[in-house]
Amino acid sequence: MAFRDAALLLLVTLQTVVASPRTFEIDYKNDCFRKDGTEFQYISGSIHYNRIPRVYWKDRLLKMYMAGLNAIQMYIPWNFHEPHPGQYVFSGDRDVMHFIQLAHDIGLLVILRPGPYICGEWDMGGLPAWLLNKKDIVLRTSDPDYINAVDKWMGKLLPMIKPFLYQNGGPIITVQVENEYGSYFACDYSYLRHLVSLFRSHLGQDVVLFSTDGAGVSYLKCGSLQGMYATVDFGPGSNVTAAFAAQRYAEPHGPLVNSEFYTGWLDHWGEQHSRVPTSAVVKTLVDMLNMGANVNLYMFIGGTNFGYWNGANGPYAPQPTSYDYDAPLTEAGDLTDKYFAIRDVIKMYRKIPEGPPPPSTPKYAYGPVTMKKLTTVYDALDILSFSGPVKSVYPISFLDLNQQFGFILYRTTLPVDCSKPTALSSPLNGVHDRAYVSVDGIAAGILERDKAISLNITGKAGSQLDVLVENMGRINYGKDINDFKGLVSNLTLGAKVLSIWTSYSLSIDEAISQGLLHGRDFKRRVPIRRPSRLLQHSVSSLPTFYSGTFSIADGIPDLPQDTYIQFPNWKKGQIWINGFNLGRYWPDRGPQITLFVPASLLSTAVLNNITVLELEGAPCAPGPCTVEFTAIPVLNATLASLRDHSTHQFHKGDLLY
Ligand SMILES: *[C@@H]1O[C@H](CO)[C@@H](O)[C@H](O)[C@H]1NC(C)=O
Ligand SMILES: *[C@@H]1O[C@H](CO)[C@@H](O)[C@H](O)[C@H]1NC(C)=O
Ligand SMILES: *[C@@H]1O[C@H](CO)[C@@H](O)[C@H](O)[C@H]1NC(C)=O
Ligand SMILES: *[C@@H]1O[C@H](CO)[C@@H](O)[C@H](O)[C@H]1NC(C)=O
Ligand SMILES: *[C@@H]1O[C@H](CO)[C@@H](O)[C@H](O)[C@H]1NC(C)=O
Repeated sequence: MAFRDAALLLLVTLQTVVASPRTFEIDYKNDCFRKDGTEFQYISGSIHYNRIPRVYWKDRLLKMYMAGLNAIQMYIPWNFHEPHPGQYVFSGDRDVMHFIQLAHDIGLLVILRPGPYICGEWDMGGLPAWLLNKKDIVLRTSDPDYINAVDKWMGKLLPMIKPFLYQNGGPIITVQVENEYGSYFACDYSYLRHLVSLFRSHLGQDVVLFSTDGAGVSYLKCGSLQGMYATVDFGPGSNVTAAFAAQRYAEPHGPLVNSEFYTGWLDHWGEQHSRVPTSAVVKTLVDMLNMGANVNLYMFIGGTNFGYWNGANGPYAPQPTSYDYDAPLTEAGDLTDKYFAIRDVIKMYRKIPEGPPPPSTPKYAYGPVTMKKLTTVYDALDILSFSGPVKSVYPISFLDLNQQFGFILYRTTLPVDCSKPTALSSPLNGVHDRAYVSVDGIAAGILERDKAISLNITGKAGSQLDVLVENMGRINYGKDINDFKGLVSNLTLGAKVLSIWTSYSLSIDEAISQGLLHGRDFKRRVPIRRPSRLLQHSVSSLPTFYSGTFSIADGIPDLPQDTYIQFPNWKKGQIWINGFNLGRYWPDRGPQITLFVPASLLSTAVLNNITVLELEGAPCAPGPCTVEFTAIPVLNATLASLRDHSTHQFHKGDLLY
């Protein structure tokens, strides 16, 4: 070879290297993925940035990287980013592009699941509640109003995603369209086709689009479509051969993919905490990796449903605040035996990074904090109801009052004397989801969706009836995701339909973050009726705000640290720390007892403020009462032991414990 030819060859080779495009493709001949032309298998883990404070994103991603994963899988919940039509939020804890960039910087590829529907045990499966402003909208179908909103949202989101595609120098190797669509009743292929062409129009022809469905032919029938690569999901203990045979029904060739291999499972209030043994996870993981399958571990870290973000299943069963999931990393990002066992498995299949993972963050028990009563919800209505009362003949829903989350107060008067206990009922089960009922300022009991549709009250004609309704989280799975909140059907008193309502939309979060509940002298505005003998022992107290402060001592190094908060002898409510809505607590039902409090919420410089809205009865009367910071999480309290404490649960007999 002449020198000139050799030089030319070198030049050509160099050019190939420089110009070689980044590619990520499906190889149907060899049943695998190809990354830059080379056979590629992913071992991935699910992480939801929306369940982790931004300051901890890097720590969690690094722990995933150090476990030997080469990819993460993530949803993008639409309702987290478009709280009102056309109003987009992509900053702070919602800065999803920053999260993807962090994953990229750490060396993790990204499997993106932008919805529009995500399920994910997240309010309404990630769909914005405002879609229900069109009352008869058929979600997840070709309904033009739904499609219009989807097109606008994806028209905003997908162009932001595009630079992060693998082909464009970023980490995103594949993009999922919809989510387990084959489990939805509608089976609308034109909807899926529309989504595929929408995704292609924004992301280009090169990106690998895929679908995920249950590992059964019946799911794949409505969930898979030409143009999306069909994958399946299944958990430990499954017959792996049979499960992947289902995938082969839709995809005779191409890589085997389990998009959701369950490391644990979700919880519901009032049910035992889910545990999945490490041995079962390891065994099925090995089975799959031996077949050369691509696996995503769902969840690798679950995190927290802060605020009001938890979803629910039907019959109505909301998920708790913790989304720990019994995953390899705990809710607080701590390393577990499951983590190390999975890492040991991965080690057998690919080279994993040297060295130990970042350690679990230390936890600090700040101890008890004394809480004092601020005011009942009713005595603070002028502060809490920013928009003022709205009158209607029959009850109207949250959305009618332009409110999506939290609480609404419905008020009317008793049309007749009820000297004998008379049934206050929701015959159509329309209390969505839990109502705290009082008559003339005396708590009378609780109505609860699918659990307690009737309670007896007494009172005089003209007595004031207050029904504070809590939205406990929208259904995220199945045919009932059109989950309207509030009083969505009439209440009856005896045989009479109650009418002439005054409804108060409550801006509790805004009032707390603006400090409006503090430093006020609340006068009791609701007339007090002497409790009748019958009710005296059976009821809880009015929904009431409490507050407390605590300082973090100087002189102890490395504070603030993460902690957990628990509510000894409290019943159920919502808690804010320094104005941040931490979530719901419900030790009276369990199994979750402690709420995770990330250090980033706490201050060492000034007093920390705790605000609690206790809905059923704080342990504060007569003496003082406390909440308590502890270093040890409890997510698995036995429900039986809790039941012993709930002596004055009004509707105890109705509960489906
Ligand atoms: C797993 O499924 C395959 C294919 O359906 C079947 O042949 C096999 O017997 C099953 N194995 C077990 C242990 O059930
Ligand atoms: C209401 O009272 C009636 C009798 O007055 C009784 O039969 C019924 O069980 C009570 N209902 C509830 C839910 O307590
Ligand atoms: C309440 O009852 C009235 C009268 O029967 C009926 O017209 C109305 O539609 C009902 N409202 C709801 C929300 O069910
Ligand atoms: C707690 O509330 C006080 C009084 O409103 C305020 O000065 C302080 O900054 C708050 N603490 C934090 C950490 O936000
Ligand atoms: C809850 O989990 C802890 C830690 O794994 C365990 O020690 C405890 O026995 C469990 N409690 C119950 C009631 O299952």
